[in-house]
Amino acid sequence: MTLHTSRKTLHEDQAAALRALVSGGRPQATTIAVTSGKGGVGKSNVAVNLAVALAERGLKVCLLDLDLGLANADLLMNLHSARNLGHVIEGDVSLEDIMQEGPGGVHVIPGASGLARLADLSEFERQRLMQQFRNLEAEHDFLIMDLGAGISNNVLSFACAADTVLVVTSPEPTALADAYSTIKLLVYRNRASDIELVVNMVESNKEAKATYERLAGVASRFLKLPVTSAGYILTDDAVTLAVRARMPFVLHAPRCHASACIRALARRYARNVETPAREVGFFRRVAQLFM
Ligand SMILES: Nc1ncnc2c1ncn2[C@@H]1O[C@H](COP(=O)(O)OP(=O)(O)OP(=O)(O)O)[C@@H](O)[C@H]1O
Ligand SMILES: [Mg+2]
Repeated sequence: MTLHTSRKTLHEDQAAALRALVSGGRPQATTIAVTSGKGGVGKSNVAVNLAVALAERGLKVCLLDLDLGLANADLLMNLHSARNLGHVIEGDVSLEDIMQEGPGGVHVIPGASGLARLADLSEFERQRLMQQFRNLEAEHDFLIMDLGAGISNNVLSFACAADTVLVVTSPEPTALADAYSTIKLLVYRNRASDIELVVNMVESNKEAKATYERLAGVASRFLKLPVTSAGYILTDDAVTLAVRARMPFVLHAPRCHASACIRALARRYARNVETPAREVGFFRRVAQLFM
């Protein structure tokens, strides 16, 4: 009996060790919240193409389209979904029911309209939802969220709970000013680390660097906050063509300049996946903020 028990324990230990090996020691997905101050600066393109580029590296990626405006990921990936996260929150369907397989093997959870309802869920409904989200985290290496622009309370909650907040801006002064306002709001909500900037639609590495330094300088001086540079994406006609073809540009034009930039971004995050995860998963952190 004792032998049997100890064998079982040994077996369980081995299973745990194997899981840790396979998952690189992290039971939870790394969550990246993609947001911006100004609209139209390229958030959805960054979110979708980063997701595909990470999947190309053999990682399991789920893209959550949380933009409450247009269903951006659907448009950029040519998906058609009748049901979304709002229906899951209402309890009509499960997360698994609405998850779609997008280009490049990326899993896609289509946009939500009922996020505000999260606050009114009963304990039973909340637990049921959290269990589904925990499964989602356990089954993926990365959850990439397209949060949309303009910072609503819901967007802020999701952004605050993510491992990394990736703020997208263009080099235009208005976009940069709005990016700064967004970062300021995050800091007011006690988000004091892992805020990164990607500068989209630049003509050169030099322009990207100057844009980043302007924002990082102001954030450091007035918010005492380090903003990390995640990289940049060159202005590229191939992006517009891919959008028209309703395909991620990394698949439509794998060798274009913008694709090379996105791959560099993905390489950086794929490397970071080795760092230990937080003990509390993303959705539990969201729940603590929302509910
Ligand atoms: N690197 C780029 N090079 C050229 N054009 C680009 C680039 N990035 C984005 N665009 C153009 O900008 C448009 C808007 O991009 P996208 O939809 O990704 O922005 P968004 O920030 O998600 O917008 P919204 O705020 O409306 O959700 C694209 O349709 C494309 O035409
Ligand atoms: Mg968008």
